[in-house]
Amino acid sequence: MKILLTEEQIAEKVRSLGAQLSGDYRGKNPVLIGCLKGCVVFLADLMRQITIPHSIDFVRTSSYGKGRVSTGTVRSEMFDLNVRGRHAVIVEDIVDTGLTLGYLTDALTRQEPLSLKVCALLVKPEAYLAPVTIDYKGFDIPGDFVVGYGLDWGERYRDLPHVAVVDEQDA
Ligand code: IMP
Ligand code: MG
Repeated sequence: MKILLTEEQIAEKVRSLGAQLSGDYRGKNPVLIGCLKGCVVFLADLMRQITIPHSIDFVRTSSYGKGRVSTGTVRSEMFDLNVRGRHAVIVEDIVDTGLTLGYLTDALTRQEPLSLKVCALLVKPEAYLAPVTIDYKGFDIPGDFVVGYGLDWGERYRDLPHVAVVDEQDA
């Protein structure tokens, strides 16, 4: 396993994203919508770098099954989420094909939020099978499958403090 982003690099980026969001959403009481499960570490750190009142909520999406390749079909669980009349920010761990984000953006737009933006920590190069804009972006990374900082491979490695590239020996 090879470290791609260190704990310090991530912390620095999360601080800067938190500062940007705090400035842009002053007085707007935004709701951050975390995409389970990969978002949990990022969201927990990000919300503590946001210095204005805000709330959090969650959706659950999955397109990967157990492997490393997207199935191409997004399944979701919206719980009782409702962003009508709110300023909403989708918080994603990683954008690969963009299908998940495209799907979520459509679903949330139908609820008529006051605004809807996207914050993603990691973005892969071939990201854009779906036409989505990432308003707050952490890092552009290569196309390799990565784990850590919330990201898993078959539910493993979410607890790593850094982001690493997996290879076959890690299976
Ligand atoms: P997309 O719909 O292809 O953009 O996939 C987005 C979701 O797939 C992310 O929210 C992750 O949960 C998962 N995913 C995509 N790439 C990776 C990766 O390299 N490691 C772990 N999970 C990934
Ligand atoms: Mg995810």
